[in-house]
Amino acid sequence: MEIRALREDDQRSGFHSGNDYLDRFFRQFAGQNQFRHHLGVTYVAAQATRILGYATVSPGHLEVDGLPAVARKKFPHYPIPVLRLARLAVEESAQGQGLGRQLLRFVLQLSLDMDAKFGCAGVVVDAKPEAMDFYRTFGFITLDAIEGLSDARPRPQAMFLAIRAIGEAAMFADMHPRRSR
Ligand SMILES: CC(C)(COP(=O)(O)OP(=O)(O)OC[C@H]1O[C@@H](n2cnc3c(N)ncnc32)[C@H](O)[C@@H]1OP(=O)(O)O)[C@@H](O)C(=O)NCCC(=O)NCCS
Repeated sequence: MEIRALREDDQRSGFHSGNDYLDRFFRQFAGQNQFRHHLGVTYVAAQATRILGYATVSPGHLEVDGLPAVARKKFPHYPIPVLRLARLAVEESAQGQGLGRQLLRFVLQLSLDMDAKFGCAGVVVDAKPEAMDFYRTFGFITLDAIEGLSDARPRPQAMFLAIRAIGEAAMFADMHPRRSR
């Protein structure tokens, strides 16, 4: 299994994570967003020609006012650069085998690379309510209160992990994320 950037000839039509919104994005929009509109890059976990999971990232910024007071003090009062994890999903048949964690670690490593080259204060993810605990195990904190749009499509919760925590965690080898807290 390798994690690499999406290619134009990758077969995306059969991807099924159990989340219709994330599946539709991957099948229909991930390619054009990356290759035609340059809005972000999707990284895929691939085993030969089979796509087992994906993570889409783009550079973003964070208004410091959205951070909890303790974290806010560290930053100036203008938008700070972050890496945004826009979407993350694992093929249903491959869930629960550590792939989501591997993809997230890959994204955290990207944020360190971005920091070294352009500056990056951390990673922001718009987490589905049911996935918040997954991100909490890595140390992500919530940025504001949850407001549900509806039961059918609850509003995602913005969560943040500071670059210092990412750098200090050394979580990219064998460490379990929970042991790094
Ligand atoms: C959420 C998702 C990406 C996790 O990927 P995965 O490959 O199944 O997760 P992993 O096997 O790497 O699990 C890592 C750890 O997180 C836990 N975990 C996985 N999904 C979780 C969830 N939804 N809530 C809480 N914990 C979760 C696992 O139990 C595991 O813990 P352990 O190491 O103590 O056993 C995947 O289940 C998925 O694609 N779900 C549908 C789409 C989705 O919700 N995406 C997130 C959108 S923000």
